[in-house]
Amino acid sequence: MASVILGILLVLVPLPLSAEAQIRGNLTLGSFSTANDQNSSWLSPSGEFAFGFRRMGTGAHLLAIWFEKIEDKTIVWSANGDNLAPEGSQVQLTANGGLVLTDPRERELWSSGLNGNGLAYAAMLDTGNFILASANHVNLWDSFSQPTDTILPTQQLDLGANVKARYSETNYSTGRFLFALQTDGNLVLYATPTPLVVSDAYWATNTITAGRMGFRLIFNQSGQVYLTDRNGTILNTITAELVPTSGYYQRAILEYDGVFRQYIHPKTANSSSGRLIGWSRVSAPVPQNLCTSIAQQIGSGACGFNSYCTLGDDLRPRCQCPPGYTLLDSTNEMNGCIQAFAPQNCNGSRHETDQFDLLEMPNTNWPESDYERSVAQTEDWCREACLADCFCAVAIFGDGICWKKKIPLSNGRKDSSEAGTKALIKVRIHNRTSKSL
Ligand SMILES: *[C@@H]1O[C@H](CO)[C@@H](O)[C@H](O)[C@H]1NC(C)=O
Ligand SMILES: *[C@@H]1O[C@H](CO)[C@@H](O)[C@H](O)[C@H]1NC(C)=O
Ligand SMILES: *[C@@H]1O[C@H](CO)[C@@H](O)[C@H](O)[C@H]1NC(C)=O
Ligand SMILES: *[C@@H]1O[C@H](CO)[C@@H](O)[C@H](O)[C@H]1NC(C)=O
Ligand SMILES: *[C@@H]1O[C@H](CO)[C@@H](O)[C@H](O)[C@H]1NC(C)=O
Ligand SMILES: *[C@@H]1O[C@H](CO)[C@@H](O)[C@H](O)[C@H]1NC(C)=O
Ligand SMILES: *[C@@H]1O[C@H](CO)[C@@H](O)[C@H](O)[C@H]1NC(C)=O
Repeated sequence: MASVILGILLVLVPLPLSAEAQIRGNLTLGSFSTANDQNSSWLSPSGEFAFGFRRMGTGAHLLAIWFEKIEDKTIVWSANGDNLAPEGSQVQLTANGGLVLTDPRERELWSSGLNGNGLAYAAMLDTGNFILASANHVNLWDSFSQPTDTILPTQQLDLGANVKARYSETNYSTGRFLFALQTDGNLVLYATPTPLVVSDAYWATNTITAGRMGFRLIFNQSGQVYLTDRNGTILNTITAELVPTSGYYQRAILEYDGVFRQYIHPKTANSSSGRLIGWSRVSAPVPQNLCTSIAQQIGSGACGFNSYCTLGDDLRPRCQCPPGYTLLDSTNEMNGCIQAFAPQNCNGSRHETDQFDLLEMPNTNWPESDYERSVAQTEDWCREACLADCFCAVAIFGDGICWKKKIPLSNGRKDSSEAGTKALIKVRIHNRTSKSL
């Protein structure tokens, strides 16, 4: 893990650099910490939350807040996921900029900014909120108001607030999915960080009518996440399950796969069973079935282009490649798939029809990728039509209707809701040309 060197400049006494310099209590102006190999951090009074640098790779550090007392050290907030800090970078509490993160050449990588003047101190609170406050305790900035992908009990989101999924489980760059409490009162999940069209939304509370307008999202201490109107009346319960209020840590997160989930983690290992238990999900995920929730007119859908989404037994969406296709990026199944064969030749009259076959996938569809639709046809007709057409990558057949689909395929899903729909995937029979790709 990365680390932190702390120095209180105002006191001008160099602190001993112990292997684990963990500072509790208020931080005064001028306090700083350095991204390097020491494991040190600013702790909340209980020691349950820590603020500091976490190592993300060689010489790449993330300024973050995490659960300090559990083995996972799960990160709940981060400042610079899109712009990791090199070794020797420093975060400092300054009167004008609040928290300022600079690299070793003193170029600014990130800063909190301040809503007002008179910064006096900073503190890591036991709720997981990191605050910058004036001498009379007015919050000039706090991490709860600038969430990344996670919210914690007692945290509230006001109109205009955004929660953005990270890029992958271990990459804290901004990912594809966005959870927004819009100024119109609607709480919406979008399949793009910069939504442009209505079809980018895949879940919404639709709390936009007079008398039923969303105003605030609350994660309360008994673990419920709900949307209220201006008067505090609950309009929509996002996660409803009652969770243990003591003895457990809680968090709710818009995960990199686009699903909003709530988790609990025992604060101490169960001594009778002797086993450490990690995070377990509580309440239904939102949305319950991501695979069938997203149908983007522009964009790849729940998974990357040319892949399809299935819901696992654990209710997690999985992205897979159809037969004849391979992952574009073997380290990230969400990045889509490419054909592992040379595409059909469109030149001339023969079209290499005899070198292609159609492989069947039941209950599978790629909505929004079609370019041709023929009604009252047989499956054989549909097969022939796709084979003879060099543009046809997949044919979908169901109820006498034949859809021809083009590359890149989008919104792929294999789901029982597609029962009666059969996908016919066009693949090259002979592998010999695939080497030439
Ligand atoms: C820092 O933390 C890591 C992971 O917890 C541990 O392996 C390493 O020994 C620690 N380094 C120091 C200097 O304490
Ligand atoms: C932090 O500073 C504020 C303002 O000076 C003070 O009221 C508070 O008690 C301090 N907290 C701790 C833990 O020292
Ligand atoms: C995270 O993903 C982004 C987008 O692909 C990439 O640019 C960045 O290098 C990745 N960061 C790490 C630490 O792998
Ligand atoms: C809020 O409460 C006031 C006073 O009880 C009531 O007149 C108003 O209709 C309420 N507004 C909403 C949005 O419920
Ligand atoms: C949290 O909200 C739920 C649902 O409104 C309510 O039943 C519960 O009492 C609340 N808990 C706290 C601590 O406010
Ligand atoms: C600890 O584990 C035992 C056996 O699995 C179980 O009966 C007990 O309820 C657990 N206690 C807590 C506090 O989770
Ligand atoms: C297409 O076919 C014509 C005639 O058979 C040939 O001259 C031309 O080179 C071909 N083009 C490609 C791109 O294969």
